[in-house]
Amino acid sequence: MYESNEVFINDHPLIKHKITRLRDQSTGTSEFRSLVGEISMLMGYEALRDLPVEDIEVQTPIETCKSPIISGRKLAIVPILRAGLGMVDGILALVPNAKVGHIGIYRDEITHLPHEYYCKLPSPIEERVIVVTDPMLATGGSAVDAISQIKSHGGMKIKFMCIIAAPEGLKKLQKSHPDIQIYIGCLDRVLNKDAYICPGLGDAGDRIFGTK
Ligand code: URA
Repeated sequence: MYESNEVFINDHPLIKHKITRLRDQSTGTSEFRSLVGEISMLMGYEALRDLPVEDIEVQTPIETCKSPIISGRKLAIVPILRAGLGMVDGILALVPNAKVGHIGIYRDEITHLPHEYYCKLPSPIEERVIVVTDPMLATGGSAVDAISQIKSHGGMKIKFMCIIAAPEGLKKLQKSHPDIQIYIGCLDRVLNKDAYICPGLGDAGDRIFGTK
């Protein structure tokens, strides 16, 4: 369990560049999807910096030595459906043995309140480092709900990863879950009256999956 929120806001030029390409309304579905994957992989590299490692014995062509490995068994990626799915493959490229859970939450278009309709998590969830993904942290409602659900199943070591966050959502997430780590690609200016992030990139799910 983390003692108090650690918030990591990306400052890497490669991620900044790719986020600019994501924002551009003329970026098409295929490029958008690839960019989300690449950004997730780059952010995942940083977010997994503190994964526990254990030494194994390995025979090199020269001699035997002890050398560290990561136990993929200990990692769970939990995308918030549906846009969070777009971030999974990028992280799996780094840790192919990670298990993947799913949480389904949709946002009521009138009230903007989150409603949960699906939750399936890999066990033993209490022993895993859990990376919850959602490209957009807008009001924070879905992220707060998803993390409460994971905690109610026993999850403890939780990292939340988003590509773009609104200050309102970040504040809500920090207040509701002060014990998680939060990774943000870019902290944007504000939410508009329809709960879209400004300047943002529009509807991340629609842009990843080519729906409208
Ligand atoms: N979800 C999105 O996909 N985009 C926003 O701007 C806010 C929530």
